[in-house]
Amino acid sequence: MQLKQTHSIVSERQLPVVNSYNEWDPLKEVIVGCVEGAVVPKLEPALQTNTSPQNMWFFQKYGGQPFPQELVEAASKELNEFCRVLEALGVIVRRPDLIDFSQTYKTPDFEASGFYATMPRDVLLVVGNEIIEAPMAWRSRFFEYRAYRSLMLEYLRRGAKWTTAPKPSMSDEFYDVEYATKPIEQRYALTEKGQFVTRELEPSFDAADIVRFGRDLFVQRSHVTNEIGITWLKRHLGDQFRVHVVKFPDLNPMHIDASLVPLRPGLALVNPARPCIQTELFKKAGWELVEAAPSTLPDNWPMYMCSGWVCMNILSLDPETIFVEKQEEPMQKLLKDLGFKVIPVDFRHVYTFGGSFHCVTCDVRRDGQLEEYGFAEPFEEDELEG
Ligand code: NVA
Repeated sequence: MQLKQTHSIVSERQLPVVNSYNEWDPLKEVIVGCVEGAVVPKLEPALQTNTSPQNMWFFQKYGGQPFPQELVEAASKELNEFCRVLEALGVIVRRPDLIDFSQTYKTPDFEASGFYATMPRDVLLVVGNEIIEAPMAWRSRFFEYRAYRSLMLEYLRRGAKWTTAPKPSMSDEFYDVEYATKPIEQRYALTEKGQFVTRELEPSFDAADIVRFGRDLFVQRSHVTNEIGITWLKRHLGDQFRVHVVKFPDLNPMHIDASLVPLRPGLALVNPARPCIQTELFKKAGWELVEAAPSTLPDNWPMYMCSGWVCMNILSLDPETIFVEKQEEPMQKLLKDLGFKVIPVDFRHVYTFGGSFHCVTCDVRRDGQLEEYGFAEPFEEDELEG
């Protein structure tokens, strides 16, 4: 397909320190999360909604305490090896500061202890030369930004635009506190009707509910991203970008990067278990959507915070090269058949903390500029949201 390109690629020397418009341009600098100091969050309304009944015991038992040491050690080893591979490929790797997530805090609206700095993708959204700190909806994540503050200050001093979106106060009124206790069928019906555990009192979104295709960004309403949060983002980004709401048949929507994952201009992975409702709009824009291969993860693997579909939560080194979990052979084969070079890295122990390569990273700098990738103007909001 011929996709419209509005700007040519510039050399790295000319790139701003923060520069990333999509998920596939050649990667130059990346933040990779840490598991050290990770604390199991105490049950709270939005976390409880996203936790399956068979995993509830984990949060009841460990809430407010450090993650079990053996889980931390195994995941830390994998993360460090991933960093080593990235550096060997010439990518600059940055890590968050270690802060004490076990400290409890009290605001006028709630009391909580912290979580971790494992998933920078959830809290940091890079759009062009700007980093936006997301106004997340878990009380345990209220102060997570502190682990990234020294990095943000450095990027600010080196020329980046740095924004913190207004955080929700997260009082009880912000949530439908009964949501998690409702029968599954009722919850399905509610998500289909567009009702989630977070209400619309104040903006909230997780950066991982947004996926970047150059000028076009796609976002899902989820249990942590509300409509007023999406409105804030649309208005903040202004006319240079188009933010489109996409929907998936998902009981527990939280983070779009195991549902819709662009690989290169014109090609994206989709999740066969929750196919995008607006598939036709992508096809109309000239994009081929390929179904991800299921995970090879054994059923008894400890997965407290996400599904095995994180096998499609890949990170692109460039439009030809992709990091994939070492034991996800069907996923690797699929990508190779599509013409990609695959870099396998062990990451199953990281999965246990709720994500994979895309979740644990924030691509600060990629070698590219703002471009369009076939989405016709104007992109019909009614069609998308209807
Ligand atoms: N919540 C989704 C996405 C995780 C990256 C899942 O568990 O599949």
